[in-house]
Amino acid sequence: MAKIDITRTELVWPGKYNEDGTLKEVPRVSLPFQVIETVNESRATREVKKAGVQGGLFDVYEGKEGDTFEAGWRNKLIWGDNLLVMGSLLEKFAGKIDLIYIDPPFATGADFSFVTDVGEAGLEVEKEPSAIEEKAYRDTWGAGVDSFLSMLGQRITLMKALLSQSGVVVVHCDWRMAHRVRVLLDESFGMDAFLNSVVWVYGESARGAKAIASQFPRNHDDLICYRGGEKWTFNGDSLKRVYTVEEARKIGFRQDEQGRWFKTAPRGDYTDESIARLAKEGRIHKTSTGGIRIKYFLPMESGNVVELVPVGDAWMDIADAMHMPDAEQTGYATQKPEALLARVARAFSNENDLVADVFCGSGTTLAVAEKLGRRWIGCDLGRWGIHVTRKRLLGIENCKPFEVLNLGKYERQYWQGVTFGEAKDKPLAEQALYEYLAFILKLYGAQPVAGMAHLHGKKGKAMIHIGAVDAPVTIAEIDAAVDECAKLKQSELHVLGWEWEMGLYDLMVEAAKKKGVKLLLLQIPREVMEQQAAAKGDVRFFELAYLEAEIKQPKKLTAQVVLKDFVIPNTELIPEDVRSKVKKRSDYIDYWAVDWDFQNDTFMQGWVAYRTRKERKLPLSSDAHTYGKPGKYRILVKVIDIFGNDTSQAFDVEVK
Ligand SMILES: C[S@@+](CC[C@H](N)C(=O)[O-])C[C@H]1O[C@@H](n2cnc3c(N)ncnc32)[C@H](O)[C@@H]1O
Repeated sequence: MAKIDITRTELVWPGKYNEDGTLKEVPRVSLPFQVIETVNESRATREVKKAGVQGGLFDVYEGKEGDTFEAGWRNKLIWGDNLLVMGSLLEKFAGKIDLIYIDPPFATGADFSFVTDVGEAGLEVEKEPSAIEEKAYRDTWGAGVDSFLSMLGQRITLMKALLSQSGVVVVHCDWRMAHRVRVLLDESFGMDAFLNSVVWVYGESARGAKAIASQFPRNHDDLICYRGGEKWTFNGDSLKRVYTVEEARKIGFRQDEQGRWFKTAPRGDYTDESIARLAKEGRIHKTSTGGIRIKYFLPMESGNVVELVPVGDAWMDIADAMHMPDAEQTGYATQKPEALLARVARAFSNENDLVADVFCGSGTTLAVAEKLGRRWIGCDLGRWGIHVTRKRLLGIENCKPFEVLNLGKYERQYWQGVTFGEAKDKPLAEQALYEYLAFILKLYGAQPVAGMAHLHGKKGKAMIHIGAVDAPVTIAEIDAAVDECAKLKQSELHVLGWEWEMGLYDLMVEAAKKKGVKLLLLQIPREVMEQQAAAKGDVRFFELAYLEAEIKQPKKLTAQVVLKDFVIPNTELIPEDVRSKVKKRSDYIDYWAVDWDFQNDTFMQGWVAYRTRKERKLPLSSDAHTYGKPGKYRILVKVIDIFGNDTSQAFDVEVK
């Protein structure tokens, strides 16, 4: 390895530098975001906003909004790896984020597991991490401290680029990493940019017997705070203590000749000039031995003496997540208390500022930002984290509109380009496509077949059709593949897709059956894009679920959705501990929502119902929706099951 030119104190770990001694670059990939869902916003408002923008399966995030809700700002919940997400945010948000708080996964193993509740009884099920979550866990901790540092180092570089000049970054960690994280932050932001290493004492005792065996209990986390520029936002906080007059006297508070209560403190580094000024204000107290102390007056409230004690860098007044109010508990193992995040957000941001958390988990930072009138951007890799966060935000009274985004097809195109080559001319493009198809077939355990128009492979008796990375599988595409099968007298067809035009699966399956073809529709999982997962054969293709619903029209100009059934075709794929707790099929449903006027683009939630930890009952009939005028409408019903999977189905209605 070439000599590394180290010019300052820095933390080095295997893998930080290239073989030639140069620093490994942080990948900066800029991909467009897709808006997959909007919440708490009417279609009319949205239409005005996107006037003139070409519609597609999803809205592409244009980033043309202003900085206030009035000017069109929408808070953002982004599903994806924060490395690609932050890289893609840079174009619009470089130097624009006022506070970034992160709580990256610690090596506790609990980072990706969570408890979910099933059915009306709310029976708890421990959810295993998905392969992709495990993969992220392995990437972060697989090579121990080295891989953690390399993961976090890259993220810190991107966070710095996103942070505004008056912004602050707060990294939450514990004894395992705090000392190293601080050196990493020194390296990126400069030692002078250090503000605080807040010690959050979450309880009196440590977790686990080992922790108290032969040392003091480890009962705190660290919140390491750095500033982005020379001037930064800081709003100090104080704790209020109330004393009776007797108590006040006992602890040494005094009264002056006018009866005002005060406490005193040493003069510290006050200059003689300042002392003279304070003397004029009557704030100097002379001790019996002639020494000088500064007086701090204490206000009275209902006959009691009030002391406001500034909050220092040791926070002992916020209990850990286990002692949070029930209503706040989401079941997310690593959830932090809102009181903690509220103090961080109040201190380092002002109303309307933009707050981000790119390891948002159950969305604590976002919920707090929402309640405190800050704008927010959240990101998490886990499907479940995104779902829990969405429900949590919906539960906040008057939650402002937000959108759920991902990098969808762009992330897949990027992956396809990186993996199979970016082809400019036709033969190369065909070769790249062939390799892509062969790769997916291999993961599915199938062989390629040649010379057919719509069929790409074969697995046992079944023919295989594979959807493109950058477009949804269309009904016409499935029909064409079914027809080709029928023509070739093939009796089974498996269609593998990343995205689907519409949820008409049961009808499609029926139609195929009439042509003598058994049709299975399977989801290509995100894990396919993860090299390690794919190499390990860690990839499972799940059959799509479907739902049955009836659209009622109780009155003129109205529609109402009644959910009749939710079918996961192959329940044997569901873990036994979950299956045994499911009493009826609707127990699989955690959340469902309706877009009353779906325009074949982003899902706009018009009505929603979901289970919470407290309220387990789920209505299976929506409220009736009243349309402005008669006409033909497409209603989209979206179900999210207890695994965080999304199933949507469209219904065309004519409203009179
Ligand atoms: C410790 S938890 C955060 C908990 C959160 N503070 C709360 O109050 O719920 C860490 C989160 O980081 C997410 N995560 C891990 N690696 C990630 C990545 N590369 N990109 C985005 N999120 C990631 C995990 O899914 C997990 O939800």
